[in-house]
Amino acid sequence: MSKNKFGIFCILSLIGIFFYACQSEEEITYARYYTAGKQLYEYKCANCHGNDGAGLAMLYPPLTDSTFLKQNKTKLACYIKNGLQGPIQVSGKNYEGIMPAQATLSDIEIAEIITYITNSFGNKQGFYPYQQAGVDLQNCSN
Ligand code: HEC
Repeated sequence: MSKNKFGIFCILSLIGIFFYACQSEEEITYARYYTAGKQLYEYKCANCHGNDGAGLAMLYPPLTDSTFLKQNKTKLACYIKNGLQGPIQVSGKNYEGIMPAQATLSDIEIAEIITYITNSFGNKQGFYPYQQAGVDLQNCSN
């Protein structure tokens, strides 16, 4: 290998290591949120929405509709913290139930739950940080 080529090789390796390190840090945080979110989900949400997010008949809507979750992504924190009622359409079906508020959940717990549900049941939307939950919760309409 000539001197020049070796230099280029070193620089490319460094860039590679740099990207790998950054990526794995976010991946570790993501994995932590996801695992904590799964536990919270099973404890606080699965009663109604089911362990597999399938919901229950016309009573509880499913969390498998990625279009609904994407379109309402910035409202999910509000739904979880303040509850939700009134007519909504999920997966082409109409629901008009009452989801109770869970006001004691912290921003980080809400972010963990959102990271979990938006990356499970056929959804793949990536990491949702707690700072985003804080921002979204300031914009709740109810
Ligand atoms: C007591 C039952 C119950 C519990 C517990 C509950 N939900 Fe719901 N959830 C509902 C009902 C009913 C609706 C529909 C409300 C409506 O018709 O406006 C709903 C709607 C939703 C929606 C919007 C519609 C959809 O299917 O995507 C999301 C997202 C959601 N719930 C997530 C959660 C999460 C996350 C938790 C746990 C923190 C949770 N829910 C806990 C009953 C529940």
